[in-house]
Amino acid sequence: MDLSTTAFAVNTPKFWGGEKELVADCIETGWISSEGPAVKEFESKMASRCSRRHAIACANGTAALDIAVKALNLSEGDEVILPSFCIISVITQVVRGGSVPVLVDSDATFNMDVSQLASKITPKTKAIICVHTYHFPVDMEPVLALAKEHGIKVIEDAAEMIGQTCLGRPCGSFGEISTMSFYPNKHITTGEGGMVLCDDPELAERCQQLRNLCFDPKKRRFVHEDLGWNYRMTNLQAALGLGQLLHLDEAVQRKREIGRLYSKLLKGCPGLILPPDDLRSETNIYWVYGVELLPSVPCEADEVMKHLAAAKVGTRPFFWPMHEQPVFLQMGLFKGQSFPVAERIARRGFYIPSGLALKDEEVEEVANRVRKVMEMLLSDGGYPK
Ligand SMILES: Cc1ncc(COP(=O)(O)O)c(C=O)c1O
Repeated sequence: MDLSTTAFAVNTPKFWGGEKELVADCIETGWISSEGPAVKEFESKMASRCSRRHAIACANGTAALDIAVKALNLSEGDEVILPSFCIISVITQVVRGGSVPVLVDSDATFNMDVSQLASKITPKTKAIICVHTYHFPVDMEPVLALAKEHGIKVIEDAAEMIGQTCLGRPCGSFGEISTMSFYPNKHITTGEGGMVLCDDPELAERCQQLRNLCFDPKKRRFVHEDLGWNYRMTNLQAALGLGQLLHLDEAVQRKREIGRLYSKLLKGCPGLILPPDDLRSETNIYWVYGVELLPSVPCEADEVMKHLAAAKVGTRPFFWPMHEQPVFLQMGLFKGQSFPVAERIARRGFYIPSGLALKDEEVEEVANRVRKVMEMLLSDGGYPK
């Protein structure tokens, strides 16, 4: 196959074959809303996959985080520790709910630097949000130990680690409450979708109510004691999720194959730091194939991504740190704060196509183009020094 003129999107989702029938069944039976049976089945299967007692399907991963944060019933002024380097979904409800976000820098793994956690804890600290980012889970052992010592709740954002393990347990099983996203670039997709997972039945009930406008089944319908959202997942989405969940292990395996193939093909590529295949006892899940520019590269990721776009290779920049977000600076948050690793990786990191539908020969073509762009940029007369 001649791939020389093919354009590569940063993500191409994969359907395994059985999904169509499951979604068609919703239309045939008329079960299309959140009331349908696939939602409960998807919840129960995700709960058991993640060794949790309860799962609450919802509209997307951001909604799952909103629900998780609000379900902890934090009071105004309570502090919540979270990484500066993450998607804005992690912090939105913390800020809207009147809690105080306390940021932590990242380490070389792109995850929260857990060695900085202890110094951030005060008597007002009520929660830590751990966000497993790109390749590996957060080093959970010290987080859980600190949380236990200080009576702090842990929220685990496992959006990027569906099917990953940490300390021999599934991601999605850590802390009081975990969240997931089923956006099309995730290991399983429902188009848009998310999940909250927990063990405590009261917490699960609170999450179910928050997802559904705080309707209270014990009260008269349309009488509300609190404000929630309509963050429900439809039966159509859950049916798609059930079809995808059957292939989660294959999806994880394929992502790892794509990641390892890139690492083999890009070995020695000038200017790039490639992700390692393992860390502590964990294997890289390669949710994305994220690379960082070596300090010797005289330009930033934007410039490289521009050249890759010209070579028809889709890319995404890394997250932009929370302490540098205009919206929070305008609110007077994080004034004068600096997190050097987050600032560096935000400017010097990007990821290349690694969607589940990508074939080996396509990975090879992308790797060739990446290498060519890097060689061109770093050659004499390539990038203006
Ligand atoms: C770590 C993490 N958390 C939350 C989200 C938000 O999920 P969603 O796009 O489904 O709202 C994402 C999205 O990619 C994510 O990567």
